[in-house]
Amino acid sequence: MAIKRLKRIAEPLVLPDGLEALPVPLLLYRKSDNSLVPNPEFITVFGVHSPARILSARALGLAQERPVHPSAFETPGRQEGRVLENDRGERISVDLRVSAYGKPSDQTWLVMFEDTGPRVDLQNQLVNQHLELQKSYEQLRSLQQALIQSAKLASLGELATGVAHELNQPLQAIMGFSQELKYVEKLSPVGSEYVDDIVSASKKMAEIIKSLRTFARDSGQELQATSVAHAIEESSRLLRHTFLQAGVTLELDVESDLPLTRANPIQLEQVFVNLLSNAKDALESSGVAAPKVSIEARNTAEGILVRVTDNGCGMPPEVRDRIFDPFFTTKPVGKGTGLGLSITHGILARAGARISVNSHPGAGTEFTILFQIDRSQTEGETA
Ligand SMILES: Nc1ncnc2c1ncn2[C@@H]1O[C@H](COP(=O)(O)OP(=O)(O)OP(=O)(O)O)[C@@H](O)[C@H]1O
Ligand SMILES: [Mg+2]
Repeated sequence: MAIKRLKRIAEPLVLPDGLEALPVPLLLYRKSDNSLVPNPEFITVFGVHSPARILSARALGLAQERPVHPSAFETPGRQEGRVLENDRGERISVDLRVSAYGKPSDQTWLVMFEDTGPRVDLQNQLVNQHLELQKSYEQLRSLQQALIQSAKLASLGELATGVAHELNQPLQAIMGFSQELKYVEKLSPVGSEYVDDIVSASKKMAEIIKSLRTFARDSGQELQATSVAHAIEESSRLLRHTFLQAGVTLELDVESDLPLTRANPIQLEQVFVNLLSNAKDALESSGVAAPKVSIEARNTAEGILVRVTDNGCGMPPEVRDRIFDPFFTTKPVGKGTGLGLSITHGILARAGARISVNSHPGAGTEFTILFQIDRSQTEGETA
């Protein structure tokens, strides 16, 4: 009996001819002495000349990738998503099919391999293509938003020119006649009050008409090499007094030697006046303890980056999504026309600059503008 067992252990594991010739990569595995015998196809496909490599510690090191380990050879059935390491240390994705070989007491298994690399490559390609598609879709969506915005502004521009022209003359007449009325007629106190109301309402209308005209004129304004820094400083100077009165701190952090951009200088000031006025209004209505607006301007690889930040009331998404729409305002009648930001958007679009907003209720608001650098100037040519 003892002699018989010794003989059994010494018997080498060999592949029967039929399996040897099969054009499928396979191994025979015997547990008792860890024998592992590949067929020639296995060696051709996977480049593993020494099957012992499969048992090596290096293969175990790939545990997270579900490496092929002999214990896998003792589990009959299909096993997907395994990793095999070839003699060059390259990782190959494989699926295994394991079946018992011979008598159960022999503890020997036949393991067939399928290289799933091409399938995995295809899957990865598909995933990448899907991501690319998603990116293109998002770009298309933001482009569409920008187009909608500029279409709205363009049609509003045409309308504005007509309306401003038609309304201005009768309005001047109303203002003139109502002011005259106070002097020509002896009015009762109530009548006089009404006339004052008519005059102040007419003035507000005149303001709106003025904004509309500026808006409509925008397209005709000439672009030139313009200093963003100067526009920020001028607009801040204009509003410094109002800020002081409102108890709002205004902080400027403008990098020196900022390059120039191509814009209309007067309109660019208007952009910052609009943004600063809005920030001041947001701070006044929020009642925050230390109201502050900061403007930061930096020269970056993408262009001139300007951030206007306030710690005011912020905006809910339904307001944030509409702020660039003409006539959209949340301010009381008479306080806001709702044209400030649509004019701002139009001016920036013509200067090739992009504006975006980040705002949350109670957390303040940040407007970011990215201006293009006027290369013709930096290269010393006349703009
Ligand atoms: N910094 C800000 N914080 C909170 N809300 C803001 C801010 N800036 C703009 N908004 C919101 O966007 C709306 C539209 O702004 P926009 O400047 O176009 O018009 P307006 O300020 O209401 O009126 P106008 O500028 O014509 O006097 C505002 O009514 C306000 O609700
Ligand atoms: Mg405004």
